[in-house]
Amino acid sequence: MRIGIIGTGYVGLVTSCVLSNYHNVTCYDIDKEKIENLSNGKCIIYENGLEDLLNKNLNKSLFFIDNIEKLVTENNVIFICVGTPQGENGSADLQYVYQVSRSIGQFINKRKVIVDKSTVPVGTAKRVKSIINEELLNRKIEIPFDVVSNPEFLKEGSAVNDLLNADRIIVGIDSVDASEAMSILYYPLLEENHNIKYLETTVESAELIKYASNAFLATKISFINEIAMLAEKVGANILDVAKGMGLDKRIGNKFLNAGCGYGGSCFPKDVKALIQTANENGINLSVVQAAQDVNQNIRANVVEKICSKIDVKDKTIAVWGLAFKPETDDTRESPAIYIIKELVKHGATINAYDPQGMENFKWNVVEYMNNIRYCKNEYECVADADCLIIITDWNIFKEADMGLVKLKMKNNILFDLRNIFAKNKEIRREFEYYGIGV
Ligand code: UGA
Repeated sequence: MRIGIIGTGYVGLVTSCVLSNYHNVTCYDIDKEKIENLSNGKCIIYENGLEDLLNKNLNKSLFFIDNIEKLVTENNVIFICVGTPQGENGSADLQYVYQVSRSIGQFINKRKVIVDKSTVPVGTAKRVKSIINEELLNRKIEIPFDVVSNPEFLKEGSAVNDLLNADRIIVGIDSVDASEAMSILYYPLLEENHNIKYLETTVESAELIKYASNAFLATKISFINEIAMLAEKVGANILDVAKGMGLDKRIGNKFLNAGCGYGGSCFPKDVKALIQTANENGINLSVVQAAQDVNQNIRANVVEKICSKIDVKDKTIAVWGLAFKPETDDTRESPAIYIIKELVKHGATINAYDPQGMENFKWNVVEYMNNIRYCKNEYECVADADCLIIITDWNIFKEADMGLVKLKMKNNILFDLRNIFAKNKEIRREFEYYGIGV
């Protein structure tokens, strides 16, 4: 199959590298520098296994070009993988999806399947179809084509593995031709891994499955974070509570880790966009709204708790972890942004360290750059610190020599916002320890 992928961001690049194991894949991006780097085998994002895959298939079954006309005309399945940032009122900003659709309409030369992989609200596939039709009308020609919704469920940090070992592939189709094309496309992957479930739905259902899944997971996190607050008050331990709940197969033990709230480029944005879509349709999604509110409050509660235990004014606070989760350099909507800003506003000086996220983090807090020192490693970070806050649960923090950490710190206060040491009796004895819900 000849597959064309428009957009080499996170989703586009992972999808193209994985699909090039089975098909001939060509990628296009408006950013010429990106295309140049990728053509030379340089991966532009940090993602486990991605660069290896890129170099394995590059110039054999995987190609990068900067000509969208060539991409559209020479391939029979075209994936739209461009960004859908948050718009002004919380809804998804679809301008890039629409621009790409227009280009497809301008250059389409024979029957094709257009696959929407970008995260887009219900109804977008219909709009993509009508934009392409508008362009065909301008060109005064008729060419049959299908628009399919095939949302992605990749997690940053394990994206390649998530696609190769997906729980499910969701394909929203409205024609037999599209159904056939998509099953041929995914056939080799499904043959290789019989655990992957393949589900065909209508286009609208596929679009909604994506948002509903992210909103449900976000709700699960907010739920456990709220129960953690109660656990702390009544003397229960949230780790045991979550474990006990998770043993019920209907609940499951995943996404029940209490912490300082969800971040990243997906949950916050998708939850907002789903609420907005519901509002536009006269539906009040109060559970999803509550999940969003709790996530905001949790960060404020954490800062309040820190400030109630230590007067941070003129103190040096060490922060371990700036990325929104481990194994990524992504700091978008990371809880670290809010927490660090608030502590600086309260007069603290921050020593920060993250194994991957420091460069990206700097851009979120430029106005406070004089109050934040970026450190070479986790030990330099804690030198003479009055308190240590763990925000991201990287393995290197779990494996740190905490005896050395205590020696280097001025004071021994430890806020473990991911509960990585909550079961470690020695650390809880050696430090003035505060976890979440423990
Ligand atoms: C999320 C979804 O998990 C993917 O299925 C989806 O494809 C993706 O969004 C997307 O829409 O593109 P991702 O944003 O990479 O993936 O991150 P997650 O691993 O889901 O974590 C999100 C946030 O929740 C992180 O800040 C993490 O620390 C937090 N989290 C997660 C918790 O606080 N507790 C948990 O138990 C789990």
